[in-house]
Amino acid sequence: MMSCWRRASRPIRGVRATRLLSGPFGLLVLLLVCPTWAVFAEQNVNPGINHNYVDPDVSQWRGVFERDGREVWDRRDDIIRELRLRPGQRVADVGAGTGFFTLMMARAVGSSGHVYAVDIARNFVNSVVGRARDDGLGNVSGVVNDQRGVGLPVGSVDLVFVSDTYHHFEYPRSMLASIHAALVPGGELVVIDFRREPGRSNPWVMRHVRAGEAEVTAEIEAAGFALREHPEFMQGQYFLRFVRN
Ligand SMILES: C[S@@+](CC[C@H](N)C(=O)[O-])C[C@H]1O[C@@H](n2cnc3c(N)ncnc32)[C@H](O)[C@@H]1O
Repeated sequence: MMSCWRRASRPIRGVRATRLLSGPFGLLVLLLVCPTWAVFAEQNVNPGINHNYVDPDVSQWRGVFERDGREVWDRRDDIIRELRLRPGQRVADVGAGTGFFTLMMARAVGSSGHVYAVDIARNFVNSVVGRARDDGLGNVSGVVNDQRGVGLPVGSVDLVFVSDTYHHFEYPRSMLASIHAALVPGGELVVIDFRREPGRSNPWVMRHVRAGEAEVTAEIEAAGFALREHPEFMQGQYFLRFVRN
């Protein structure tokens, strides 16, 4: 906040901005500008982690994501049950990948609800939308986003679901601010990711996953969410449900 104030204090056409920014007007400007500036000043926390998703071969990735032995695939019915989706809800599957969760969620929220399949990879998004159409689901839209935001309108969703994707966020603060804005007040964010415990997690997790559950929880809480539930039903992964403050 202080460095932001110092930047704002440079002279503007002979008038010190501090004079312009003093009083209630200045406070309003700073409150609006500083968080935005902080989000854009964020460093990439994991450069290169998404290189496999620049132009993914969807059928190849279906073999990776939709295979027995992958915990979120094996436990997909339990995960959907745990989400407690209701007809009419609007949900965003952020990092939808090949979209099996999108399709399951679309069935759960019914024709009065809607599911946005959000992914940085256009091939994935097009494929999910095509699968939904083939399955007769008219309540799925695709969104190709970028690393800084979900690309959804303000207050447009009741639930954001992030499976095995939080550790792929290159700018987690920006993504969380965007998710926060896309949710209605009281909306929920569910994050499933890998347990990362030195000495217990396998070397691939230790290398590939940037942060463990405690750090992820702290990052999400700092972005304006409160941890609501933490059901323990998976082995190598955790399931966290947050509510948007
Ligand atoms: C490991 S896959 C998980 C896919 C799916 N959620 C699942 O559990 O099968 C990670 C996905 O996140 C996407 N991704 C990475 N960073 C993203 C971001 N900032 N926003 C949206 N999608 C992202 C990748 O393109 C990829 O499809």
